[in-house]
Amino acid sequence: MMLIRALKFRPALISEAAEIFDLHVASVRSLCAKAYPRNTIDSWFSDRDASFYLRSIKKGAVYVAELRRSIAGFIEVNPGEITNIFVRPELSKKGVGSFLLQNGLDILNRGKRCEILIEATLNAVPFYCKKGFRETGRGEWVSPTGAVKIPIVCMKLDRHP
Ligand SMILES: CC(C)(COP(=O)(O)OP(=O)(O)OC[C@H]1O[C@@H](n2cnc3c(N)ncnc32)[C@H](O)[C@@H]1OP(=O)(O)O)[C@@H](O)C(=O)NCCC(=O)NCCS
Repeated sequence: MMLIRALKFRPALISEAAEIFDLHVASVRSLCAKAYPRNTIDSWFSDRDASFYLRSIKKGAVYVAELRRSIAGFIEVNPGEITNIFVRPELSKKGVGSFLLQNGLDILNRGKRCEILIEATLNAVPFYCKKGFRETGRGEWVSPTGAVKIPIVCMKLDRHP
């Protein structure tokens, strides 16, 4: 509870692309490790570097949870979709993911769409289930170069007016 009170939700800055990339790598290596084979974890970031995040940051789709001048987690939102939520591994299970999701949903809810989709990593499914998402299918996330393929669960949050 104390930690949540100290968090600030704000758009990511272009200058934070490298910190976001490092957090993303650390989060996958730690929190996704049990749900995926080693070779999938090792290849996850093989075709990207920090510049991968610049396009989304520039269009205002990436937000961070700031904790005492560093980034505790980030979320990317696009119309009708939560694209990414990743929390710094040492801060997991302390409410940062819930904080990011709630703030992300608040942004999406301004867009008046009736459902919100996510392609969840396998390890994150129980988290999204707790938040009211339900599974609609299975699939693969394919990186822009096509070199990386990651099994995901398609999930949907129905909004009730
Ligand atoms: C999934 C993730 C975002 C959750 O963030 P978090 O800060 O740990 O989540 P919270 O602390 O807000 O947890 C909220 C609730 O979900 C539960 N929860 C979180 N992760 C869970 C998991 N892996 N398995 C089961 N329950 C989980 C918490 O116990 C908590 O339950 P409670 O409300 O009953 O206390 C975080 O673990 C993460 O970054 N994982 C790696 C990246 C990832 O897979 N992201 C999803 C990409 S789509």
